[in-house]
Amino acid sequence: MAMIETHGLTKTFRARGKTVEAVRGVDLMVRDGEIFGFLGPNGAGKTTTMRMLATLLEPTGGKATVCGYDLRREAGKVRTRIGYVGQNGGAEPLETGRENLILQGRVYGMGKAGAVKRAAELITRLDMEPFADRLVRTYSGGQRRRLDVALGIMHRPHLLFLDEPTTGLDPQSRVRIWDEVRRLCADGMTIFLTTHYMDEADGLCNRLAIMDNGKIASEDTPNALKQQIAGDIISLGLDTHNGAVARASDALREQPYLRELQPTEHGVQLYVDRGEEVLPEILRQLDQAGAPIRTVTLARPTLEDVFLRLTGRSLRESADIA
Ligand SMILES: Nc1ncnc2c1ncn2[C@@H]1O[C@H](COP(=O)(O)OP(=O)(O)OP(=O)(O)O)[C@@H](O)[C@H]1O
Ligand SMILES: [Mg+2]
Repeated sequence: MAMIETHGLTKTFRARGKTVEAVRGVDLMVRDGEIFGFLGPNGAGKTTTMRMLATLLEPTGGKATVCGYDLRREAGKVRTRIGYVGQNGGAEPLETGRENLILQGRVYGMGKAGAVKRAAELITRLDMEPFADRLVRTYSGGQRRRLDVALGIMHRPHLLFLDEPTTGLDPQSRVRIWDEVRRLCADGMTIFLTTHYMDEADGLCNRLAIMDNGKIASEDTPNALKQQIAGDIISLGLDTHNGAVARASDALREQPYLRELQPTEHGVQLYVDRGEEVLPEILRQLDQAGAPIRTVTLARPTLEDVFLRLTGRSLRESADIA
């Protein structure tokens, strides 16, 4: 089942006589039980799309179903089935984490005893005991983000939206959030998150959409995205003095798996599909051709390479500019 499906979703803002086309026709399908990511630079339209899907912002055009309900006509039904953790979180700083959680439960219609019990459960589960009864304004960034996630899942939603769950956190806190997201997914929750971190998109998401300038540039699994764009890169170190490079090039050039061959300072660089499968064959052929190999490395293109190919800009650069 599709947890989210959108067709031509758009959002245009009008501010002080200016028009901003924040989201320009997004077609999207998020499956039940997956971790789906939106990867893109600042201003790409990630938050705007997410806020529309979470019923917090009215779309200008297009249509969408979320948890099987029509976003416009059945917004109330959508709302009870989703959790939303905004980019800046939503905790009340002058209350404790526990108080925030209990209040959230009450907002979603839980009884007092049920909310207290559920809050205690989440405090244990997210290792928040040491700080749960302190005021939120004393929390570190990582502690705050853990509370934000707990707030988002207090009412056991089917679908959880996380807007940049780990931005600004230290590596340890990021890993904690990732572990929690994976656990929620293992328990059957669908997760939709935004990020501008490639490692997060790559390591955490089952599938992702690369968003740029209000549009989806491509959508697939991280591996498929990387393979679709570039294949794998095999660097071979050869003896560069005795003609081995020429013999290696001759032996490899006609092979069906080869996309591109470039001489390098120390040997040759090959662009191939599915490097790990063809590597043994390459080694055999070079051995036969009398071009012994000194070093071999197999590298995968990164999502940074993918973003660059799709948009003509580096993800890091475009994030810095905005
Ligand atoms: N309320 C608003 N009024 C006018 N323009 C807006 C409004 N909200 C967002 N925008 C504009 O819409 C575009 C998309 O913004 P959005 O917040 O969706 O981007 P984002 O991908 O979440 O970026 P970031 O990575 O910085 O969070 C930006 O150009 C932004 O300035
Ligand atoms: Mg945003």
